[in-house]
Amino acid sequence: MSQLPRQHTDRNLALELVRVTEAAGIAAAKWIGRGDKNAADGAAVEAMRHAFDSVAISGTVVIGEGEMDEAPMLYIGEKVGMGGPEMDIAVDPLEGTEIVAKGAANGMAVIALADKGRFLHAPDIYMQKIAVGPGLPQGVVDLDAPAGANLRNLARAKKVDISDLVVCILDRPRHAEIIAECREAGARIMLIEAGDVAGCIATALPQSGVDIYLGSGGAPEGVIAAAALRCMNGQMQCRLLYEDDAQIERARTMGVVDPNRKYSLHEIAGGDVMFAATGVTTGPMLRGILRTESGAVTHSVVMRSKSGTVRFVEAQHDFAIKHWTNA
Ligand code: FBP
Repeated sequence: MSQLPRQHTDRNLALELVRVTEAAGIAAAKWIGRGDKNAADGAAVEAMRHAFDSVAISGTVVIGEGEMDEAPMLYIGEKVGMGGPEMDIAVDPLEGTEIVAKGAANGMAVIALADKGRFLHAPDIYMQKIAVGPGLPQGVVDLDAPAGANLRNLARAKKVDISDLVVCILDRPRHAEIIAECREAGARIMLIEAGDVAGCIATALPQSGVDIYLGSGGAPEGVIAAAALRCMNGQMQCRLLYEDDAQIERARTMGVVDPNRKYSLHEIAGGDVMFAATGVTTGPMLRGILRTESGAVTHSVVMRSKSGTVRFVEAQHDFAIKHWTNA
């Protein structure tokens, strides 16, 4: 085990994480546009699981591919890593399985890490989300406020007109009302087909043009997006949404005390967190995997809440040398 101070091991660990998302991204890329989301996901899961074997942590998967009896790898509770500091891990080996199968934008391989016990143990249900980027007064938007009020407050804080604001929303029938409210308020909307981790993160990326994320999506994806927004100094609030009593019960067994709680960003992803992602198909933050004659070029990002550094990593992989990625 490393004798380096924690600060150094954290820095090294952050770069190790990129290797893990690169492995998953490259494996999934083989399936881009081939119409088989399960194959794409399976390839990413397997590659990510194996890549974890050489990461110097004692990790426990808390957001993963499901329960032990439903997921062969990266199931909730699985121990990963070669030994080191105890950390909780949230993984989405392929965020946007369907979009990758279609060859559409925003597919990523993603990991977030937190000190033990600091991630919300979110069941695989829906979650209501609101997110904005950095540099805004705390509480400028509120999950429980009407969309119009949030947009007015955000426009005032950003010193722009509401018509300058872009709201990112998943294109789903369940969002018809929010979409109507945002249009009524005069804002512009960017509807995305899938991939709300990228949608939430886009609020913190000036080049994305997105000012606010609204709507419901997967709860596990919400935890992963929260980790990224912690590193980028953004704001986010969430609430779990239940379709039946069984989902409420499931949340309780995972440690949710108040099923209707409005979670703050730090309650979803607290303490020191790290986030890494590799683009599979191109989105606002990351370019997708580029296959070359002898391998692939990957584009990844790694961030730590402790330093606030957002580091982009472009890597060229030679499959003649690195056999495990030879897709
Ligand atoms: P998958 O990677 O499981 O395909 O999820 C993609 C995604 O778009 C997430 O980003 C989002 O949180 C969720 O699905 C939304 O769920 P739904 O498609 O049911 O609206």
